[in-house]
Amino acid sequence: MNKQPIGIFDSGVGGTSIWKEINMLLPHEDTIYLADSANAPYGTKGKEAIINLSIKNTEYLINEGCKLIVVACNTATTNAISILREAYNIPFIGIEPAIKPAALNTQTKAVGILATQGTLSSELFHKTTDLFASNIKVIERIGEGMVELIESGQLYSEDMKALLKLYLQPMIDANIDYLVLGCTHYPYLIPLLVELLPKHVKIIDSGEAVARQTRSVLQLNGLLNPQKTTPKNEFFTNGNPEVMAALLENKFEVEYLDF
Ligand code: DGL
Repeated sequence: MNKQPIGIFDSGVGGTSIWKEINMLLPHEDTIYLADSANAPYGTKGKEAIINLSIKNTEYLINEGCKLIVVACNTATTNAISILREAYNIPFIGIEPAIKPAALNTQTKAVGILATQGTLSSELFHKTTDLFASNIKVIERIGEGMVELIESGQLYSEDMKALLKLYLQPMIDANIDYLVLGCTHYPYLIPLLVELLPKHVKIIDSGEAVARQTRSVLQLNGLLNPQKTTPKNEFFTNGNPEVMAALLENKFEVEYLDF
């Protein structure tokens, strides 16, 4: 089993930001990445639909023999991971907005969070916020339209800039000193965010923590791949392979797959 690949899925191309962290920390693991771009965005869908899509992706990866699945999508994690863990007998790693470190470290007692509607309205997100951020100001903003622009390859477009300006202004007005990225598509926007935010605002996302958690769960279950050779990394999308290949700096082949 330890020689089997790690499965990773997202509603689209955003989870490649997590794949990069995992590949950096675990460079000898084989991986299969599944981008459900044909159904992106998940963030505007209801809980039931998000659960069904997450099950579809999970079953594909399990049929491919994956030993562990990383749900590289905040929206799918916050809405569906408990159901997946109950239904399938392999470990699942999820990703949630890093609200805890932001709340613990803020000096201005105000933090911003940018995420999808599906994540911000989830029970899991509310629980975490109540637990760690009840004594500070949390300025939430749905990143409406942002995933769609990234999925169509318009990362650094004028439209993206205009949306970000609109979404960040109330946070800047509230004097945030941390911005939490609650969607795996958003780390690709960091260069733009740095340009638009005041210098003292720190941007945090959960990618590195997810990679560390993946390593420790593999270790704990005796599932680390002992191979020291170059791994097999496969990328599949039911959307446009070119958009995804570009985010992977055209270093990997991305295959179209109707799943
Ligand atoms: N990348 C996703 C997330 O982390 C989902 C975005 C979407 O499909 O709405 O939430």
